[in-house]
Amino acid sequence: METQSLWEHTLTFFPQFLAALTERVPAESTVAVIGASDGRLVLPLAAAGYRVLAFERDPLALHGGEVSLPGDVSPHAMGLIGRLKIEGLYDQVQIVEEDFLQTHANDAKCDAVWTSCSWHYSANHHRSLAEFVTRMQSLVRPGGLFGAEFMMPIEPRQAGIEHYTSPEKLSCHFNDQWRVLLTLSTNEFTERAHAGQLQDHTHRMGLFLAAHVPT
Ligand SMILES: C[S@@+](CC[C@H](N)C(=O)[O-])C[C@H]1O[C@@H](n2cnc3c(N)ncnc32)[C@H](O)[C@@H]1O
Repeated sequence: METQSLWEHTLTFFPQFLAALTERVPAESTVAVIGASDGRLVLPLAAAGYRVLAFERDPLALHGGEVSLPGDVSPHAMGLIGRLKIEGLYDQVQIVEEDFLQTHANDAKCDAVWTSCSWHYSANHHRSLAEFVTRMQSLVRPGGLFGAEFMMPIEPRQAGIEHYTSPEKLSCHFNDQWRVLLTLSTNEFTERAHAGQLQDHTHRMGLFLAAHVPT
């Protein structure tokens, strides 16, 4: 790629999601990405031939602008739209510039849904995690794929917020219409400073992949 995401160097289980997607969902299918940000994981999906329905509430992530980065620098960052245009992928991605919890665009049916560390954002805490997960599930047609990576609690403050969760707790939101394919969780690890977190910091992350049982 000619362009780079601000999130390029953060840990992700996206390769595990992409492997399951490749195995189960034909190329040219539609994948919804919740919390698309500047497209770190949207662009590889589009480049692989998928159509992408990208939900993002942050105008800076979509349109670009000045961002604070480690080292006390504030460069102009390109947003998702600019990156898609430069990479020649704009026509494959439909952007929904809305809060996923407010949107009415979630009656679309997709072949897969994916989110990377979005639901723990404080803007989502006024609604239950169950609502976020159910909205994601409702996008996926029978036979399709659900994938989420998420922050797990490591501080007492986070332990009191249900949006910092675990594969075990998430499984309660998946009834017999779903088959859990893969769950993973890391130990605590140190991540280098990046946009939004200007000091090195500690995370613990989980992955949850499930298939919507065909009817
Ligand atoms: C941590 S960033 C994504 C970075 C990701 N790890 C990656 O590699 O692309 C999460 C994104 O989710 C978005 N987000 C969180 N809650 C959202 C919501 N309710 N609706 C739409 N976007 C949301 C945030 O604005 C943010 O851009």
